[in-house]
Order: sequence, then structure tokens, then C-alpha cells
Amino acid sequence: MTQNETQNETQNEARSWTATRTLGRSGIEVSALGIGCWAIGGPWTMGGSQAGWGAVDDDESVRALHAAMAAGVTFFDTAANYGAGHSERVLGRAVAGRRDDVVLATKFGYGVRDGERRVEGLAVTPDDVRASLAASLRRLGTDRVDLFQLHVGDLDPAVSDDVRAVLEDLVAAGSVRAYGWSTDDLARARRFAAGPACTAVQHQLNVLEDNPEMLAFCEQAGLASIDRGPLGMGLLTGKYDDGAAFAADDVRAGGAAWMRYFVDGRPNPEWLRRIAAVREVLTSGGRTLAQGALAWIWARSPVTVPIPGVRTVAQAEADAGALAHGPLTPAQLAEVSRLLGG
Ligand SMILES: NC(=O)c1ccc[n+]([C@@H]2O[C@H](COP(=O)([O-])OP(=O)(O)OC[C@H]3O[C@@H](n4cnc5c(N)ncnc54)[C@H](OP(=O)(O)O)[C@@H]3O)[C@@H](O)[C@H]2O)c1
Repeated sequence: MTQNETQNETQNEARSWTATRTLGRSGIEVSALGIGCWAIGGPWTMGGSQAGWGAVDDDESVRALHAAMAAGVTFFDTAANYGAGHSERVLGRAVAGRRDDVVLATKFGYGVRDGERRVEGLAVTPDDVRASLAASLRRLGTDRVDLFQLHVGDLDPAVSDDVRAVLEDLVAAGSVRAYGWSTDDLARARRFAAGPACTAVQHQLNVLEDNPEMLAFCEQAGLASIDRGPLGMGLLTGKYDDGAAFAADDVRAGGAAWMRYFVDGRPNPEWLRRIAAVREVLTSGGRTLAQGALAWIWARSPVTVPIPGVRTVAQAEADAGALAHGPLTPAQLAEVSRLLGG
């Protein structure tokens, strides 16, 4: 492709880019970028293991969420788990007085010991789901959750049928507008989507962890793809090299089996190598590496909504800055795939 052709393609892409999305079949409008609120929950444990991202400054978290809103972000994703209720409270503080300007997603399914900073076991009976919603509404300071998501990614599908039935009741009652499942399992996502008010799947997606099957399913079923881990827990920002050192209560320091980005608290060298291979394409056009990683997600499908986590105003502004650039071009997407051996 000549330089002129590349330039034309970039201009055409920028023209067709709208920085908003309709959330699946719900009709709910959101910014194409959401903000993830896991880290701002502060420290907590799950089944006795560290599950938070270390200490946080709540005032800075609120300022970061306000900065995201000022930059056009309207969608925020949290969970009852994060900080065992703390993240929801901080988000509630941030949206006080602006509730109608934002779309709030939260999650349920675990035994949250509010005030104790710990989560133990499952909470997925119909009574549990209703009680969890009541607690989330209280902490968020609202009368409705826009997107209520089942957090237990590997829940027994037969149990999920009962959960889905309760969620349909809650939608009919008006305290939930739409629901989804945070799962990487296609069969489970498909089963949940049989519910008429199911509108989204939250799943892992980033430039080094593609999921074409889930994206194709979301497109075909009319669901939003809410993309977690879009920055590889910080690795795709380029700031972590071999010298990274995390606090002991940061989940990235531990050696959890599911942790792919960091190994025993250090960046996974294989990931660093692959990031180096695509850095030039991702940072073209004046994007930071993180903005390029978000642009890759938008280029993958028009139903994607990446939800990078942030801890500071600077991160919120930098990530929201990706909205102005829009998606990578099809040629850049193909180039990334080629460089990664796809
Ligand atoms: N099972 C589930 O449902 C599930 C699982 C995982 C995540 N999620 C959701 O997805 C959201 C995002 O995924 P994630 O938390 O795994 O991580 P991520 O979005 O891939 O990475 C977020 C982290 O990267 C760093 N960062 C963000 N923007 C930056 C910037 N511009 N410059 C430098 N560093 C930056 C921050 O951490 P540091 O400053 O500490 O490096 C931030 O906490 C979560 O908050 C949560 O809402 C859901």
C-alpha cells in the first residue's frame, strides 16, 4: 500500500468512527470506551488470596472517574467483589448528582463480606441474587443497575438457568435494565443469551489475547462484547519492564495460575517480546501504546467496548484520549496479525 493509500484509508476510518455504542439489544447508549473499577476497590481477599491491586487513594479514584466523564466516558464497570463493596461505594460517590449521565454495570455471584474486605464462596441462589442487587444499589446510591452481570465465569450452566430467570424478573421490575455474563466460555454465553434481556458478554480481549469465536457470537446474537483486561493488567501500556515490582497485596505479585501477564510478579518475557513486535503499528498516528491497544479492540468488531482499569487522573485522561483516535485501520489490524504470526 502506498503512503497516499494509507493516508486515505486512515481518513475514511476516522470519518466513519462514532465514539458511542448501543449496548447489545438493550438500546442503552454508552461511550465506546468504558472504565473498569477493579483496582479502585483497594485491597481485598478472595478465598484467602490477595485479589486487589494494592492500596488506593479514594479521593484520587473519584477524581479519575470524574476526569473520564469530562473526557466523554459514560460507561463504568464494577463488581460487588472489588474491595468487598468498596469499589461500588467509590463509584457511587463519583456519580452522585450525575446518575442520569452515566451507565453503570456491576456484578454479583460471590459471598461478599462487606466491611471485611473479603469474599468467600458463591452466592447464586435466587435469594442471593436479589440480596446482592439490593446491596449494590445501596452502595452505588441508585435505584437501578443498568447492566447486572453474573461474575462466576464457570458457573454450572444448569444453575445459570435459574439465575437468568431471576434476572428476567428483576428487569421486569425495573431495578435492572439489562444483564449479561462475565465468562470466557462460549457455550455458557450462548445459553445465557437465550434470555430476552441478556445484552452483553464480558470477556477477556486484548491485542495478545484475541477471541474471534466470542466476537462472532456477539455480533450474530446482537450482544455487546465488553472487553476486560484490554491493557493486559498494565503490561500493554509499555511501562512494565523486567524491573517491575508490585506491593505484596497487588494481585499481580502473586503466582495465581490464571495470571498470564506477570509471572511471580515480573512481566512475562514472552508477552514483552510480542508487544515489542507490534509496538510500531500500535503507536502509529501519535497514539500511546495503551491507546493503540484500545484501537486494536475497536478495529476487531463494532460491538466491542473495552473497559481499561484506571487508578489516577492521568491514566483516565490518557485512556479516554484513545476515543479521539478511533480504531486501527483494517490494514493495521492485518499487519498486527501478521507480526504476531496470525
Ligand atoms: N472476571 C471479571 O469479570 C473481570 C476480570 C478482570 C477484569 N474485569 C474488569 O475489566 C477491567 C479492566 O481489566 P483489568 O483490571 O484486568 O486491567 P487492564 O484494564 O488491562 O489494566 C488496567 C491497569 O493498567 C494500568 N493503566 C491503565 N491505564 C494506564 C495508562 N494510561 N498508563 C499507564 N498505566 C495504565 C493501571 O494499573 P497500574 O497503574 O497499577 O499499573 C490499571 O489499573 C477491570 O477494572 C474490571 O472492571 C472483570
